[in-house]
Amino acid sequence: MKSDQNNLSRPFHAAGARGVLACDGVSLQALAKQYGTPLYVYSGTQIVERLRLFQSAFAGREHLVCYAVKANSSLAILKLLAENGAGFDIVSGGELARVLAAAPEAAGRVVFSGVGKTAEEIDAALDAKILEFNVESESELALLASRAKKRGVKARFALRVNPDVFADTHPYISTGLREHKFGIDIRQAAAIYRAAAKNKWLEPHGISVHIGSQIRSADPFGAAIRRVSKLAAQLRSEGVSLCVIDAGGGLGIDYHAGGDASDPAAKVAEYAAAIEKALDGFEGRLLIEPGRFIVAQAGALVTRVLNVKKNGKKTFVITDAAMNDLIRPALYQAYHEIVPVKPRAGRTRVVDVVGPVCETGDFFARDREMKPVEAGDLLALLDAGAYGMAQSSNYNSRMRPAEVLVEGKKYRLVRRREEMRDLLATEMV
Ligand code: LLP
Repeated sequence: MKSDQNNLSRPFHAAGARGVLACDGVSLQALAKQYGTPLYVYSGTQIVERLRLFQSAFAGREHLVCYAVKANSSLAILKLLAENGAGFDIVSGGELARVLAAAPEAAGRVVFSGVGKTAEEIDAALDAKILEFNVESESELALLASRAKKRGVKARFALRVNPDVFADTHPYISTGLREHKFGIDIRQAAAIYRAAAKNKWLEPHGISVHIGSQIRSADPFGAAIRRVSKLAAQLRSEGVSLCVIDAGGGLGIDYHAGGDASDPAAKVAEYAAAIEKALDGFEGRLLIEPGRFIVAQAGALVTRVLNVKKNGKKTFVITDAAMNDLIRPALYQAYHEIVPVKPRAGRTRVVDVVGPVCETGDFFARDREMKPVEAGDLLALLDAGAYGMAQSSNYNSRMRPAEVLVEGKKYRLVRRREEMRDLLATEMV
């Protein structure tokens, strides 16, 4: 039972007598041979399973899981999630266009967050008839009203409030303190709602909050929602009735799980219990915006070792993937487990795993104990499904990787590898 659960929670495991790493039974060696490397590989099964964990944890109330598109915006993944009932949290016109391309029927399940929306982006979202704008300032609310007026429609909005709650995570991805650029001070929100309720082009629809990302404890979510539900109750008593509370995203995963330690169902249950308790009698609809928890552990970046090189005391394993393909270690000192696709026998060595980009910051792991690897071997960087491909770039004029989606025993290319012509397509000499 336990090992079944682990296979479900981590699709990448050794398969078959030869111990070759596979994604839900599809050999990563075979995929690398067919599609080349670096290659992102995702388990569709796990993505849907994770979405369902949230849907069933909140089954007792009206809710919508609005997957945070920024975590992984590949069209095939958006389509898969939409087919399974997800809505979407977007932060740009580009993300809106992606949702509309992948699943136009989901437009009414979209919430639009983000601290700087342009008039064009607002217009596109009004035209698409999205569910709600999560507004982050009074001036944005004024802009929204003016764009809605131009179109003769009423814009549904939530204020994204800043609850001043500390969440223990990397400082770059913590958002819920007053000193951060996000949201509106919760103490000012009531007055803004009261004024907006009188505006013919605005419909006060909800309150939203998002306190940060990769948060492993349920407590800060509870603390933020308690403040938000208190505000909703206060507004209701003043005649401003909001039908939505949007709890944002942020539930973290265990990047060190090593197969055993993480029980995603228990984590989601704990998170849901904290939110339920804090909602304290709120009878409207709950929205949540998970990104990482749905896609991170469903994805791996498969890369080939180009070279193993010794410099003084250090051994460097140089891979064909680099910081432009997966920037998390360089940007947040993030840990990603790295496993050989086909392990070799022998003693472990301490190595740095690095990419070919001309920066010392281009590393995936430093002083990591690993089984022996040789040039030509394949490695898998695990838990790379969230903020991997989505944050990739063409730095060093490198072409971005291809992506494969595994669904049961089947698999398919869902994004072809970039080619030189893609790289040069937008430029004039
Ligand atoms: N909603 C809003 C308004 C957000 O800003 C975010 C993430 C989410 C939802 C989804 O959060 P999640 O459930 O994925 O934690 N690039 C960083 C993470 C940045 C998160 C930004 N906002 C990383 O690789 O760790």
